[in-house]
Amino acid sequence: MFGKDSYRFFEQKFSQYNSDNLINVDAKEFENKLKSWLGKVDYEVEGYSEDEVARQRDLSIKFHWGHNHHFGSFNLSGRMGNRHIELMSDFSELFSLTQDTFADKSILDVGCWTGGTTLLLAACGAKSVVAIEEVKKYADAADYLVRSFLPKEKAKVEARSIYQCDEPDFKKAFDVVYFPGVVYHLSDPVLALRILFNALKIGGCILIESSGINSDQPYCQYDGAGVFHKNDRESQKQLNRGGWNWFRPSPKALARMMRDAGFVNVESCWHGKRGRVFAIGKKIDERGICKAGLSVPDIE
Ligand SMILES: C[S@@+](CC[C@H](N)C(=O)[O-])C[C@H]1O[C@@H](n2cnc3c(N)ncnc32)[C@H](O)[C@@H]1O
Repeated sequence: MFGKDSYRFFEQKFSQYNSDNLINVDAKEFENKLKSWLGKVDYEVEGYSEDEVARQRDLSIKFHWGHNHHFGSFNLSGRMGNRHIELMSDFSELFSLTQDTFADKSILDVGCWTGGTTLLLAACGAKSVVAIEEVKKYADAADYLVRSFLPKEKAKVEARSIYQCDEPDFKKAFDVVYFPGVVYHLSDPVLALRILFNALKIGGCILIESSGINSDQPYCQYDGAGVFHKNDRESQKQLNRGGWNWFRPSPKALARMMRDAGFVNVESCWHGKRGRVFAIGKKIDERGICKAGLSVPDIE
């Protein structure tokens, strides 16, 4: 177990990533580079034309820093606040994780934004972390951050969507898939879960956190591109544009999707304080998936 004050444990682990511990880069150059990205509008980098911009998420159009980071000589506030630390603490308390959950493991960090969680997983003793991110500007930023603190073999970031992880180098490659804050952003959560199941080695586990609904029935709420939530940071600032939440699952719905994707020993729950769904599942063998109606019928 990570102990009673697991938040403090993870906070301390993360604090090593300060300007004193940079490798390969001068501290001032590092600071200037990070600050030069903030607020930059660069939809072309994401492959969007100007007339598409109004339909896309603000986060894909304009650069927003992800997780809070105290670099010592300067600080960056992130749209996700201290979520990288809070979530790790929540997972460890809800599912009695131990240091063995991450230590010496190869870990896939899905939807890494600017890389706060990627760094934290590495600090928890991971053998290696591969982070993926569909928004290119964030993948580039996370890559720069990771390169500035860690040797190549410890962590790498790839600009790719989860749907592009159905590749030979992702198959049976990971001991742990860390998947918070993403499943409700996906139009096809079952396919994504199957791809992540295939990415795990036998004996591996997946940790999921999601926006969701507090129901004891296996329901999902379909939002789609047009629904803006009152408490959502993006919509509060009237920045939200299309494609924010697709299906928001109840704990039972998420558990069913996970079982359909192949996971066993699935546990899921509603975290009242956070107002979010948490789940864990294991891969204990290779098993098939029902192919009827799958968007990619030839998925393994
Ligand atoms: C709410 S943030 C969560 C960030 C981080 N995982 C966390 O929990 O703090 C969702 C992130 O997932 C990324 N994302 C959304 N859909 C994705 C996809 N299909 N493939 C990869 N990344 C995706 C978003 O661009 C964003 O960076």
